[in-house]
Amino acid sequence: MSQNTSSAVMQQRAEPHDSLDDFPTQPWGTRALCTHVLAGCHLKSKTVWEPTCNRGHMVDPLGEFFSAVWASDIHDYGLEGAFQHDFLMPFVPRVFQWCGHGPDWIVANPPFRLAEQFIARALEVATEGVAMIVRTSFLEGVGRYENLYSKRPPNIVAQFSERVPMVRGRLTATGSTATSYCWLVWLKGVSSTKLVWIPPCRKQLERAEDYAGYSEVAA
Ligand SMILES: C[S@@+](CC[C@H](N)C(=O)[O-])C[C@H]1O[C@@H](n2cnc3c(N)ncnc32)[C@H](O)[C@@H]1O
Repeated sequence: MSQNTSSAVMQQRAEPHDSLDDFPTQPWGTRALCTHVLAGCHLKSKTVWEPTCNRGHMVDPLGEFFSAVWASDIHDYGLEGAFQHDFLMPFVPRVFQWCGHGPDWIVANPPFRLAEQFIARALEVATEGVAMIVRTSFLEGVGRYENLYSKRPPNIVAQFSERVPMVRGRLTATGSTATSYCWLVWLKGVSSTKLVWIPPCRKQLERAEDYAGYSEVAA
């Protein structure tokens, strides 16, 4: 049997166990969340923490929608204003102790192998909502069902109709991917789950400056 080695298939997120899972998210994918999924959530008066900020490719678009954005990561990628923090540590950073309250929202692209723990921790810390971009295949799995979905199902599953290409170690404007992604959203005080589709929106939400400093240009 021949093996499928097309570049799209080869770009699936298969990472070693101790990897930081450095796969930046194209900014339009975060704008799609704020525009098409959280439209009724009054984000302009809310704060958000991006605890896997990496080089800031989610932080920048979040700043367009929220009143304030905190950014941290376990590794220092040199993003100005970000602090180093292991999100799975059972304490909140001092910045939140100074303000006297946690963030309204936590929005992130968690490392795949730690996504369940990230979601559990985010649900403890955020006061209004949590949104995590995950591979659509993250919706299946007996262990995940038992540990997460049977106890805390997401309130919104927002499936991208377009692909959101992510490649290791850099933002890509032109890459392709065989991996499908969705946003999972938990809203405090809501018990129902609804499935929605994010309509094609890359063209409207993507900007050339999203890729400034990268050699590729937006398609
Ligand atoms: C998939 S990347 C997401 C990057 C960024 N959020 C984006 O979408 O462009 C995952 C990030 O999680 C960070 N990370 C891994 N383990 C972590 C931990 N325990 N606490 C905080 N950040 C962690 C990695 O350093 C990496 O930057």
